[in-house]
Amino acid sequence: MTAATTAALSCLDLGKRYGDLVAVHDVGFSIAPGQAYGLLGPNGAGKTTTISMLVGLLRPDAGTVTVGGVDLAREPLRAKSRIGYVPQEIALYPELTGRENLRFFGRIFGLHRRALAARIAEVLDLVGLADRADTRLDTYSGGMKRRINIGAALLHRPEVLILDEPTVGVDPQSRKAILDGLEHLVGDGMALLYTSHYMEEVERVCDRVAIIDHGRIVADGTRRELVALVGSADTVDLTLDGDVETAFAELRAVRGVTEAARTGTASVRLMADGGRYLLPALITAVQGHAVVTAAQVVEPDLEATFLHLTGTTLRD
Ligand SMILES: Nc1ncnc2c1ncn2[C@@H]1O[C@H](COP(=O)(O)OP(=O)(O)O)[C@@H](O)[C@H]1O
Ligand SMILES: [Mg+2]
Repeated sequence: MTAATTAALSCLDLGKRYGDLVAVHDVGFSIAPGQAYGLLGPNGAGKTTTISMLVGLLRPDAGTVTVGGVDLAREPLRAKSRIGYVPQEIALYPELTGRENLRFFGRIFGLHRRALAARIAEVLDLVGLADRADTRLDTYSGGMKRRINIGAALLHRPEVLILDEPTVGVDPQSRKAILDGLEHLVGDGMALLYTSHYMEEVERVCDRVAIIDHGRIVADGTRRELVALVGSADTVDLTLDGDVETAFAELRAVRGVTEAARTGTASVRLMADGGRYLLPALITAVQGHAVVTAAQVVEPDLEATFLHLTGTTLRD
């Protein structure tokens, strides 16, 4: 493999059992530099177990992990030096300032005083905390502490950043700062593994997504590829005023409508490819019988894909 094609992080056939429980089974994926990869799954799906094996905290029962082409089991120190890991729990010093916390972690990584001070300033900018850097951590919100955690993982300029549900319990302002910062880093060529049970975050941040459920990746691909698994039809909900029965018959006959159902005395639901573009035709079709008083077009999303693949919703 040439340098250009070496994955920043890849794993193959990863497996982990806890007694009878198969926590992770046959998990494999590959993340290129500058790519953001999402692991989307509900609580208990196996995300943290997978990550723990990727960062060398948990020995897999099966499978391999390579970081920038370096085998994690064979050369753990070299492999781990390329990874930044942000765990779900926050392990920081409440009586130190944000900057002092980062200094502490930087020294652990062996960064030297002058280079470290400059790097800390960069990292504080990246996580949007430059203006709060010199106040004690115990005055920070949970989201700000999480941002310091992310900063600590970035100090040594990792090639891969791995985040375990970084926005759980985080205020909206910190959430935005975190997502903006991540997009910036990925734009600069860092590889990102992002785990979450929030669909909208994964949709925003990630180029590719693996849907994980009961320890298995049930599908992976780009958002578009995943959504295509449920079919490309949009859902069109219409509210009608007038002769709904006749209007319904006219609507289901419109070219492009693949399914139609009455959802109430005055409402119908249609499935149609490119449902948005069909709206004028639908409004015309009911003329003389009824008028459309409300219309909503819902495009298929990852939530629909998840439901289709697993039979459950992502929400707890
Ligand atoms: N140390 C452990 N001992 C026993 N079971 C565990 C342990 N850690 C996790 N599990 C179980 O493994 C499954 C996957 O857990 P986890 O990887 O934490 O999922 P997620 O991070 O997606 O919420 C769950 O059923 C969980 O209860
Ligand atoms: Mg977890």
